[in-house]
Amino acid sequence: MTQRRSVGLEPKEWELESLKSESQHARVFSPSNIALAKYWGKRHVELNLPTNSSLSVSLADFGSFTTVEFHKSFESDRVILNRKEEAPTQMVKVRRILDELRRVAGTDLRARVQSANNFPTAAGLASSASGISAVTLAASEALGLGLPASDLSEIARKGSGSACRSFFGGYVEWTRGSRADGSDSRAAMVVPGTHWPLSIVIAVISGAKKHHASTGGMELTRRTSPYFKPWVECAEKQASEIRSAVLEKSFLRLADLVESNCIRMHASAMAAFPPVIYWHGGTIEIMRQIHDLRARGVPVFFTIDAGPNVVALMEPGAEKTVEAALSKIRGLELLWTGIGNGPRVEQK
Ligand code: DP6
Repeated sequence: MTQRRSVGLEPKEWELESLKSESQHARVFSPSNIALAKYWGKRHVELNLPTNSSLSVSLADFGSFTTVEFHKSFESDRVILNRKEEAPTQMVKVRRILDELRRVAGTDLRARVQSANNFPTAAGLASSASGISAVTLAASEALGLGLPASDLSEIARKGSGSACRSFFGGYVEWTRGSRADGSDSRAAMVVPGTHWPLSIVIAVISGAKKHHASTGGMELTRRTSPYFKPWVECAEKQASEIRSAVLEKSFLRLADLVESNCIRMHASAMAAFPPVIYWHGGTIEIMRQIHDLRARGVPVFFTIDAGPNVVALMEPGAEKTVEAALSKIRGLELLWTGIGNGPRVEQK
């Protein structure tokens, strides 16, 4: 078993090409987030409007470092991700964000986006959450728009739903909203991480590429799973119960609710046609270990996003016991972190 904490990156580690003189640019960091109450289903596909509200924690220091630069000499938008040029077909989400911010700023300048994540790709963290929120914040700053987090959240949502929750630290809720244009479907902080500073470990069990990216898996579930409707019926209620358990700091209640929400989401996906199965054998082994620990009184619970890896959240003080239990499972990499303060502008 190996262990890692996050590291800060220097600009030279994510900027493959040096910045143009006299460009309008900004460098930012934006965190990844882990949903305790999941977003899994869209009521409007192009706008990424969700079928239910969701609630996440922003990670302390795992996320994306990103530079966005606008310059009159650029002929088209480009994205360099983890020091490799992205194919134009991979850039749909980013271009959607840039187009929207250009419209607000009244400019047609093209952009060069350079970005890297400080977590291993195999961690299965929603890299679109940190990546898209980072591009949105950096582009807004580079264009001198200085938009508030709430407005950035709404814009980033159109690139990737979960990205709208990465503009805030602590416990963050993305409200479903009811307007057709989605202007009330955005995120806000519920309470800061200091309210209840749980520890977090990401147990990475496989470097295997996932079969379905979340966007595709979610749509297939919505279109073909007979369990999608029942999932949606309980998801909104569970999001509000999870919110109350966080506010009351009721650990055992939160543990039961978050695990149930995760399993219901995955059950709806598994019943899609063809099935969307993210779990590996190791996923279930870790789930069982965590249940055994909780049965022995250790305050820990799990959740799983669209991949095989398991995220465990625990009361501070339980880390050593959790680590000892997980070390019985072969081939795991453990990434330790906590609840963070949200994004930051590194340089304008
Ligand atoms: C399982 O935000 O990646 O992580 O809106 O299509 O870009 P798009 O999907 P995305 O989905 C995240 C799904 C999830 C649950 C969650 O984060 O709430």
